[in-house]
Amino acid sequence: MKIIILLVSVLYSSTAEHYKTKPSFVKTCSLSDPDFDDCSQEAVQSLFNALGPGLPEIDLPSLDPLKIPKIRILQGEGPVNVNAALDDVIVTGFGKTIVLLSQVDSKTYDFYTKVRVPKIRIQGTYDLKGKILLIPLVGRGKCWFEPSNMTIDIVSDVKLYDKGGFTFFNVTQVHVKYNIGLLKLYMHNLFDGISSLEESTNAYLNANWRPVSESLRPILTKTIEDILLGFMQQIFHNLPAKFMIEDIKSNNLFSKKDEKE
Ligand SMILES: *[C@@H]1O[C@H](CO)[C@@H](O)[C@H](O)[C@H]1NC(C)=O
Ligand SMILES: *[C@@H]1O[C@H](CO)[C@@H](O)[C@H](O)[C@H]1NC(C)=O
Repeated sequence: MKIIILLVSVLYSSTAEHYKTKPSFVKTCSLSDPDFDDCSQEAVQSLFNALGPGLPEIDLPSLDPLKIPKIRILQGEGPVNVNAALDDVIVTGFGKTIVLLSQVDSKTYDFYTKVRVPKIRIQGTYDLKGKILLIPLVGRGKCWFEPSNMTIDIVSDVKLYDKGGFTFFNVTQVHVKYNIGLLKLYMHNLFDGISSLEESTNAYLNANWRPVSESLRPILTKTIEDILLGFMQQIFHNLPAKFMIEDIKSNNLFSKKDEKE
């Protein structure tokens, strides 16, 4: 399947200085602690809570509401055959993320995180020409999508690097798998305002939300991965790793800071 998604970045490269002292929303855990996973679950929860309103000191915009200027979707094959753009996108709900599990690989430091988001609302202005569930759809106008009870499994590939005497996480890739409990949606002005068709088509898409959401899965997966990668890179390029994990090994094997007692 060929998909091209161009997500205009929600983030701009940071001009701010990284944290030199541990910010109050960061909880420190120790990998040698047998209860590391519990500690880490609380720590990541605290991080999500802080991300909701954003962290202007490191140029991080709010996660809730999350504003994305434009998402362009070109998908050539399969049940979704779409050339679509979504403009002025506002996503609400990520501020209520509940962290269910957080693990860190003690060798590679890759993160494994499982979260649940009770309700997400994505709204914007769409411009669509294509097929969903083999129904030809054409239109432009306001739209909203509301996935509820979304559980997301996130695997983040991580490398370590040193900067200014600190070791940092370099999050290089994010892999996402998700499930949703329900999807509601509405696209206004489908078929350029033939309202009987608009209503019956929206009703059909909602009645068949499961295959609709399956057909949108590649698009949504990639979108969530891009958003998470942007946020995680911005955080972890600015937050020294030892503020999160105090017994992190320095990337530099000959570091003088290797203070094992
Ligand atoms: C949410 O989904 C999970 C697993 O997918 C399920 O166990 C749980 O009962 C659902 N909760 C609600 C409120 O629907
Ligand atoms: C992070 O990893 C990527 C991919 O390996 C690499 O291109 C980039 O230079 C790294 N960044 C830092 C600051 O080490």
